[in-house]
Amino acid sequence: MKILVIGGGGREHTLVWKLAQSLRPTKIWCAPGNPGIAKETLKSNNSTVECVEIGAENINSLLEFARNNKVDLTVVGPDNPLAMGIVDKFQNIGLQVWGPTQQAAQFESSKIFAQEFMDRNGVPTMKSASFKDSEKAKTFASQLGGKCAVKADGLALGKGVLICNSNDEANLAIEQIMTDRTFGDAGTSVLIQELITGMEISLHALCDGKTAKLFPSSQDHKRALENDLGLNTGGMGTYSPVPFLKEDKLSEIASAVIEPWLSGCAREGIDFRGMIYPGIMLTDEGPKVLEFNARFGDPETQIYLTRLQNDLVDLFEASINGTLDEHELQWTEQSAVCVVIASGGYPSNYEKGKVISGLEDADAIPGVKVFHAGTKMVNGEFLTAGGRVLGVTALGDNLLLARNLAYEAAAMINFDGAFIRKDIAAKAL
Ligand code: GLY
Repeated sequence: MKILVIGGGGREHTLVWKLAQSLRPTKIWCAPGNPGIAKETLKSNNSTVECVEIGAENINSLLEFARNNKVDLTVVGPDNPLAMGIVDKFQNIGLQVWGPTQQAAQFESSKIFAQEFMDRNGVPTMKSASFKDSEKAKTFASQLGGKCAVKADGLALGKGVLICNSNDEANLAIEQIMTDRTFGDAGTSVLIQELITGMEISLHALCDGKTAKLFPSSQDHKRALENDLGLNTGGMGTYSPVPFLKEDKLSEIASAVIEPWLSGCAREGIDFRGMIYPGIMLTDEGPKVLEFNARFGDPETQIYLTRLQNDLVDLFEASINGTLDEHELQWTEQSAVCVVIASGGYPSNYEKGKVISGLEDADAIPGVKVFHAGTKMVNGEFLTAGGRVLGVTALGDNLLLARNLAYEAAAMINFDGAFIRKDIAAKAL
C-alpha cells in the first residue's frame, strides 16, 4: 500500500512516524514534509519516507501526484487544505483520502457555522453572537461587560482570536479585525463570545460518519509563557492522560459534548469522517465547547500517537469506510509529555536559520522521540525554519517520569534563542 501524508509540521511528523510502524505501507510520501520526516523508515521494508516539494494547499499538484503515483491512501494533516475541499476533490476522482469533506470541515473553518450548529443541537457552549456590523458587535460586547473573545470568522491560521477584558479592549479588537482587517478577509464578520473560566482540556474523537471513538484525556498549553501568561500560540506542550480526569468523568464530558454533536450531524446530514477535536472548558456549570477543530491537534498528536497501540492505517481505513465500531482503541498505560522548543520571539517575530545541536543525543534516550515542526536541512545541518521548531516527546510509567524525561531530552537540544515553557504538565502534578 502507498500512502501520501499532506502537511509538514510536528503533527505530520508524528502521523508519518506512526503510519511507518504499520506493516501495511510499502511506500510513504509526505508533502511537503520536513527533514525529520525524511529520516523516518518503514517497518515493512526499511525504505525511507520521501518528502515531495508540494505545498499542503497546492491541491491540483497534490491530486496529480497522487494519481500519477497510484497512491492508495492520502492522509490530510492541516486544516487549510480541508477547508479548501481537498477531500472532496480526491474523492471525485476515486482516490481514497482520510479527513472531513469541505462541508464537514466547516466545524473548524467557520466559527459561525460551528456556533449555530451547537445552538441548534444542544451542544453546551458559551453565550455568543456573530456580526457583520461593527457597531452591533460593540453593543453586544458591552452587554458582556467587554469580557469576551472577539474572533475573526473564517480561517486566520489560528491567530484570529483576541481576548478582551474591558469595553475599550473589545472595541479595539473589533476595529482591528473588522476595520483594519488585521486578519484579512477572515474579518468580514466577527463572532463575539462570552469569556468563561475553568480548566481547558482537549478532546479528540475519531469518526466514521456514525461512530465516534473517544481518545484519552489530554491538555495543551496555549500561552507562550509559564503560568499561562503571554500571547496565544499554536500550543507549547501537551500531556496525556490528565490525572484529574478519570474515565467516568471523561465519559460524562463526552456524553455532554460528543453525543449531541454526533446526533446533530446525523439530523443535519453532515457525514463527518475524520478527527473532531473540541477545545473544552470545564466550568462550574459543566463542560462547554470553546471551539471545534476538524483535524488532529498539534502538539496533541505527539502524545496521542506515542500512546496509541493500534495500527493507524487500519483506523484511518475504518474511519473512511464507516467500520470504526469494529475497532477497540488501545492505549499504553504509560503517560506521555510533549515539550515544544520554540524560536525566540515566537509567536511574534522570530529569526530563522539557527543551527540546532543535540538532536541525535536527545532522540537516542530510550522513551524519547523528537518530532520536527519547523526545521530545514542545509549542508547536512538541521536549522530552525519556524516558530515551533521541535516537539520533544517522552513516555514514562507515570506523568512525573514522562515529564522528567521530556525535559531531560529538551535540555540537550540547543539553538540560538531557543525557549520552552518549564511548566508543561506541572499543574497536573
Ligand atoms: N493544540 C492546538 C491546535 O492544534 O490547534
